[in-house]
Amino acid sequence: MENLNKNFQEIVTHLKEIGFVYQGSSIYGGLANTWDYGPLGALITKNIKDLWIKEFIFKEENNVMIDSKILMNTKVWEASGHVKNFSDPLIENKVNGKRYRADHIIESIDSSLDPENMSNEEMYTWITENVPKWENSKANWNKIREFHLMFETNQGVVVDSKSKVYLRPETAQGIFVNFMNVQRTSRLKIPFGIGQIGKSFRNEVTPGNFIFRTREFEQMELEYFVKPGEDQKAYEYYINKSLEFSKLVGLKESSIRLREHGENELAHYSNGTSDVEFLFPFGWGELMGIANRTDFDLKSHAEHSREKLEYRDPMTNKVYVPFVIEPSMGLDRLTLAALVDSYKKEEIDNDSRIVLKLDKKIAPYKFAVLPLNKKIHSNEAKRVFRELIDKGISVSYDESGSIGKRYRRQDSIGTPFVLTIIDETATENKVTIRDRDSMKQITISLDEINNFI
Ligand code: GAP
Repeated sequence: MENLNKNFQEIVTHLKEIGFVYQGSSIYGGLANTWDYGPLGALITKNIKDLWIKEFIFKEENNVMIDSKILMNTKVWEASGHVKNFSDPLIENKVNGKRYRADHIIESIDSSLDPENMSNEEMYTWITENVPKWENSKANWNKIREFHLMFETNQGVVVDSKSKVYLRPETAQGIFVNFMNVQRTSRLKIPFGIGQIGKSFRNEVTPGNFIFRTREFEQMELEYFVKPGEDQKAYEYYINKSLEFSKLVGLKESSIRLREHGENELAHYSNGTSDVEFLFPFGWGELMGIANRTDFDLKSHAEHSREKLEYRDPMTNKVYVPFVIEPSMGLDRLTLAALVDSYKKEEIDNDSRIVLKLDKKIAPYKFAVLPLNKKIHSNEAKRVFRELIDKGISVSYDESGSIGKRYRRQDSIGTPFVLTIIDETATENKVTIRDRDSMKQITISLDEINNFI
């Protein structure tokens, strides 16, 4: 429950000031709800992606990766059901002209109600009877209409219905349409998985909570193809694997929970979905979803494309359409969760420090190299810095300001270890190493650093 007591605005301010995230297009006054990753944000997200690739692709014998495109044939989205189903119930307050998600209004007023089980007409009646005021404004509600979430654009020079394309709202479909290509070229036998990491776009009605809900975001998705009948086992395996992954990213067990979707909440393609949720300062929020997508996608694409999307078992020669288990994660949400969970403000010796106790695997820099005295130690420090870089380690170098301030800065960006270059570095090959969390410092030989790494 610790995160609920954290001041979210304070954390956001810190992340902006220190270089994790910037307001998008800020010199032009910004573009609502767009955020750019700064130097530290670019590194932490890269580290999380690398960890995902290691865990979900390399460590799983039969899993491979692809990189499909954001723009795809419009028929992909007809077959997937997005053209027909991918919308949110939108309600407008005629008094202030603002638009809201009807289900979100109901949930925020009466958490015992389940808007997923209500028709638009029922939600409209409930809101008109119960919400005469909303967000400091009198309310007079228009009928609910479905708001489509896919971004549209045009390909080529002629703007007509034939040139219309969508920006993908999930990376998953790029995997389904490449199912036969991958199977053929990689000679994979079922069960096998195809993963990908990439940008997705949704014209969300109510983006917000910093990088939690945005219109452009990044997903890390795996589609795991299994023989029908073996889907439940794989579903459970990937639920556990996803929970484990959130711990590998460094999230505390007490900050995460698993929530199974009710029957009426399930997406049109799913016969079972569980979400891993994280306790943000603004409440529980979905980090990732693990779904049993059945054979819906492959069958639907086969029907729409008239191509065979199936698998022949080499032992039995039996042909079937595989079931699919999908663990799907939002990179931006995982990043935000790791930053919130690790953020601490500590009082020490009449002073205070902000420290990000990030897991070593995802911290932007693993080490910082600081010359104790810039004039005396900087040549040695640069030598040590370059040696570490050549070993493939991400290292920060900082020589400006007092040593105390430089330690604080490294704490505030989450660097686990700081090496300070001292007189004995040149003479005895010794440095001091400072631990971020305990702030303890010991002198060790640089050779020992290699073992340490
Ligand atoms: N292929 C399945 C799928 O896309 P989803 O639950 O809609 O499922 C998966 O999305 C994950 O993508 C979510 O758990 C969340 O982490 C992330 N995500 C979805 N919409 C998002 C948004 N608007 N902003 C940031 N992340 C988002």
